[in-house]
Amino acid sequence: MEWEKEEFDVRSNDLAQIQRIIKDARNVVFFTGAGISKESGIPTFRDKDGLWKKYDPSKLASLSAFKSNPQLVWDFFYSRQRLVCGAQFNDGHKTIATLETREFESCWVITQNIDRLHQRAGSLNVIELHGNIFGLVCLQCEIEEQYDHQTFFENFNEERIPHCKNCSNILKPSVVLFEEPLPTLEWQKAITLSSNCDVMFVVGSSLNVSPANMLPYYALKNNATVIEINPNPTEMSRLMDFSIRSSASLVLPKIFDIP
Ligand code: APR
Ligand code: ZN
Repeated sequence: MEWEKEEFDVRSNDLAQIQRIIKDARNVVFFTGAGISKESGIPTFRDKDGLWKKYDPSKLASLSAFKSNPQLVWDFFYSRQRLVCGAQFNDGHKTIATLETREFESCWVITQNIDRLHQRAGSLNVIELHGNIFGLVCLQCEIEEQYDHQTFFENFNEERIPHCKNCSNILKPSVVLFEEPLPTLEWQKAITLSSNCDVMFVVGSSLNVSPANMLPYYALKNNATVIEINPNPTEMSRLMDFSIRSSASLVLPKIFDIP
């Protein structure tokens, strides 16, 4: 679905206020979810056309599903890898990437996304709470292999599911599946950044999944300004300082004056 430019917009007085706030900001965090990649053609999970509206996540994206039916889980991930390989980052990702070299003391992305489009847009300061779709891990010997959108399908394809070179066990995508904990270091770093930022943008997340959905509370507790960008309201919209009903790729360039 293409957003009509005039369909979504940020109210001019909100825009002016937000631009004043970010001018004085020192530590900025972008907490992102699937919505920021939607305009790159990657479906979200809980929109009307989202993945979990069509498929049962417990059968395709849980640890027990992987253990009982690795072929089905790999078929699901192979199709998502193919989609991500063919996707391009959008103006939302690109705007965030340009901000790392701005005058902020720190500018970090904490993402729930596994598509690495933030990195492909040029972001270096990225924390991946849910892993990434081009990594693989062996649950037996814990060996990890890392590829990217250009090399993954040079090494694997849908004919066969990946096996560990060390112990020949089936490899799992390095994605945090349901029933799995978040990676400890990434989670700790995410809490520290959220607790010390003075502005947090919450971009494209329904804030349905814990513990990631706790991060805006850490920012609010630190009296940060929290700005939500989402065409739809969320559980936390009423707690936000600003809740902009717009698409990330339309409004982020506007807020940061990116032509
Ligand atoms: N710009 C900004 N937000 C958008 C856009 C857009 N162009 N299009 C849709 N959205 C919003 C939707 O309104 C929705 O609130 O993005 C949000 C996506 O929500 P989810 O599909 O629930 O995705 P997310 O919040 O990232 O899910 C968190 O759930 O299943 C797990 O591991 C999965 O990381 C994922 C986690
Ligand atoms: Zn192994």
